[in-house]
Amino acid sequence: MDGAIGAVFALSEAHRQRVPDLGLADSLTVNPQKLLGIPKSSSLLLLRDPGLLARCFATGLPYMEPSWADAHGGECGLQGTRPAEVLKLWLGLRQLGRSGIDAVLEGAITRRQRLQHLLEPLPLSLQGGPLHLLAFCPEGLDASGADRWSTSTRQRLLEQQLMLSRPLYAGRHHLKAVLGNPHTGEAELERLRSVVEASLP
Ligand SMILES: Cc1ncc(COP(=O)(O)O)c(C=O)c1O
Repeated sequence: MDGAIGAVFALSEAHRQRVPDLGLADSLTVNPQKLLGIPKSSSLLLLRDPGLLARCFATGLPYMEPSWADAHGGECGLQGTRPAEVLKLWLGLRQLGRSGIDAVLEGAITRRQRLQHLLEPLPLSLQGGPLHLLAFCPEGLDASGADRWSTSTRQRLLEQQLMLSRPLYAGRHHLKAVLGNPHTGEAELERLRSVVEASLP
């Protein structure tokens, strides 16, 4: 399961109901750098059966010593020799603590809710969800209209220091705000709303 964006919500008592099905996955990717501000690379692949890694990657090379415990760490991925990447993750999580993680996640959700509130009165089709992302496209545009609108509006937003992505969803390009940046405040959200409002056909 791809939890690159959302799986960190499972770390918070207050927010884990946003990602209720993670427990069903046999494997799960997690990108703590996206919301928790932990330096790259800190991506994780969590497996229900960790033995799968050894079964996929073990080479059986005669000069590799057999493992003394469960899996041979050097044979659990494409890289044999690796830096201690996990140290960044461990230090980042320790530094934030449970209350810090809660605060970061709460801030991201609050920004998405605030932006949603600002955009709801406009004639837009909003694609939300339980996390900190919000995509939108003017109602009534066909595929080529949405392509032109999203390209020119994205440019106007960039000129205002606002960077949105332009995913293709259900056959139409949307603009998507990912509200993880803790420095995004009310002023930026208001600016976003006014650029989008001015862009509407
Ligand atoms: C939904 C999703 N899946 C996967 C990835 C890729 O993650 P990584 O950079 O760790 O390969 C990303 C990264 O942007 C993502 O947003």
